[in-house]
Amino acid sequence: MNSESIEQIVRQVLAGLSDAPKSTSTVPSAGIPEKARVAVLTELEKIELKEYPLPPLGDDDILVKVEGCGICGTDAHEYKRDPFSLIPVVLGHEGTGEIVKMGKNVRLDSAGKSLTVGDKVVSCMIFKDNPDITMFDLNKQNVGGADVYGLLPEDKEVRFNGWFADYIVIKGGSTIFNVSDLDLSSRILIEPCAVLIHAVERAKTTGILRFNSRVVVQGCGPIGLICIAVLRTMGIENIVAVDGEAKRLEFAKEMGAQASVNFKEHQGIDALAKAVETACGEKPADFGFQCTGAPAGHSNIYKFIRNGGGLCELGFFINGGDATINPHFDICAKELTVVGSWVYTLRDYATTFDFLKRAKGIGLPMEKLITHSYPLEQINEGFQTNLAMTGLKIAVVNK
Ligand SMILES: NC(=O)c1ccc[n+]([C@@H]2O[C@H](COP(=O)([O-])OP(=O)(O)OC[C@H]3O[C@@H](n4cnc5c(N)ncnc54)[C@H](O)[C@@H]3O)[C@@H](O)[C@H]2O)c1
Ligand SMILES: [Zn+2]
Repeated sequence: MNSESIEQIVRQVLAGLSDAPKSTSTVPSAGIPEKARVAVLTELEKIELKEYPLPPLGDDDILVKVEGCGICGTDAHEYKRDPFSLIPVVLGHEGTGEIVKMGKNVRLDSAGKSLTVGDKVVSCMIFKDNPDITMFDLNKQNVGGADVYGLLPEDKEVRFNGWFADYIVIKGGSTIFNVSDLDLSSRILIEPCAVLIHAVERAKTTGILRFNSRVVVQGCGPIGLICIAVLRTMGIENIVAVDGEAKRLEFAKEMGAQASVNFKEHQGIDALAKAVETACGEKPADFGFQCTGAPAGHSNIYKFIRNGGGLCELGFFINGGDATINPHFDICAKELTVVGSWVYTLRDYATTFDFLKRAKGIGLPMEKLITHSYPLEQINEGFQTNLAMTGLKIAVVNK
């Protein structure tokens, strides 16, 4: 090493020690482009990629380079019908990415974990500080969804307010979590998984769901499949999956169901109930999770559950119509305990991170839930695949 290079090193060290005031952001902007793309839903079933300058970052804000984002049922509703009158809108709330720049005041995430450039993060649509506040309570206060990145009205100053984009600006005060210890597919699955963490918490309040319970999970879409995985990570082994699609029932077994029943192979509710009983080990189930949006599914599940058992209804996220039951046979004479479950709390969201680690730890193939990934340029194809209902979870994954 010659004296010139030593001098250069000394100069660099001294420059590092100097207490010159820091610029607004704590990191250099190297590698961050001046302009980036957002995917704007400009009319029904039409998303266009638009390029805008990245806005200046406030002292409390975070700039995240988006890695991927799941397409949610809510996004699909917006794409097809715009029920919230948001067009033009940048959708995507099940997103994750890497911090590339932070305002100088940013130190910690919403759980108190430190944040630095390079960390992987997710936002959360429950933005209140109360860890147990429910979506139901938020709606009552008429603020539900008000701060959901990916469901915000157009903002001409900050264009980057949805996860279907190259970058997103997370404003100070938003709920954000450092999830650097989860891989990309796990991070994309956090939001739907939180729904099931909440449902199982609701189920536990009945005092009926235990490690050795016989459990029936009806409906093996993403919701039912994740339900099985959550139960499995709790040590529950006697799980029977019910659906009408052989492929989904096979996957249910990979996710931890011990047996499966194809409802289409049984004529009439008595024969179907008998098949479920046989699959449970010649006894009706102790507990049922109703994970279809089908009224017939709601009517049927009572017949699968024993006297004194419990039921969690979570399939009717939206109004799917009326379902017929016989209150005498189905609830009263059976002394059934029924709970409903809707969305999740902030506490459930944070608990989900550990669930995903446990699921991986016991070898559940969670990543296989993401059946289709599309680059941002093909986001319309991604939405069409979602609407065609040929896959399970559809995601947009940036290159
Ligand atoms: N509670 C919540 O917060 C919440 C959150 C998200 C979704 N959901 C709801 O959960 C439901 C499931 O979501 P998903 O994404 O898995 O949907 P999905 O449509 O992919 O899956 C539903 C499954 O139910 C099966 N099914 C239909 N009728 C049936 C019947 N009679 N018996 C047995 N199986 C039957 C279908 O074959 C399908 O595999 C949806 O209705 C959704 O709105 C609720
Ligand atoms: Zn969602």
